[in-house]
Amino acid sequence: MHASDLRDQEKRAAAERGVTYIEHGMTIGLGSGSTSAFAIEFLGERVRAGLGIRAVPTSSRTERLAVREGIPLIDLSQAPNLDLTIDGADELDPNLQLIKGGGGALLREKVVASASRRLIIIADHTKQVSVLGAFPLPVVVAPFAAAFVARRITEMGAAAEFRLDDRREPFVTDDSGYILDCRFSQIPDPAALARELDRLPGVVEHGLFIDMASVVVVARGDAVTELRPK
Ligand code: A5P
Repeated sequence: MHASDLRDQEKRAAAERGVTYIEHGMTIGLGSGSTSAFAIEFLGERVRAGLGIRAVPTSSRTERLAVREGIPLIDLSQAPNLDLTIDGADELDPNLQLIKGGGGALLREKVVASASRRLIIIADHTKQVSVLGAFPLPVVVAPFAAAFVARRITEMGAAAEFRLDDRREPFVTDDSGYILDCRFSQIPDPAALARELDRLPGVVEHGLFIDMASVVVVARGDAVTELRPK
């Protein structure tokens, strides 16, 4: 089987298992990205079969998919406390610290995950790493501060590049920010870097999700494993 087909199969398997955490009556957050898209499809089937839930989407793309699947959507302001959020990840380390934001939705993803009692992460096996950082860390910046933040992050030891869209213009997030993709290569202390970025003016949000995952569902071949924080 082609490697990308195998990855898609793993994403589907992780998504199918992750969706079993969603119960009738829940108000949930719906993540973004290709693994979340599979979860939205599985959830749509269950909703059409009678599962009563309400969901807050984390991106305009997720919103469109959820509408297509007939999943009832609400605004975060209507439900500030969510039962759980289901979402993908770009990297996860042995302590279940995450890099997210490859799809550019990290601000909404982090807000919605923070409003949730539990964060269920669904991932194919390629997302598991021993040390975070091979995947460039996405950092959302206010356009006014973009050059300043890029300089400061470079001084921290990363190569920071503005993400571009298909027209080679700066990629603009759903909340009008720019994204810096920051190549640190290795992030041995993700919590310390997260604190440093939290203190940097002009940073709207970054893709380090520290101590946020409640369960990580990882699919490797035919095996689906659930990991929990130690
Ligand atoms: C979207 O902004 C991300 O945080 C995604 O959850 C992450 O990029 C994983 O995406 P895939 O499920 O497409 O690998």
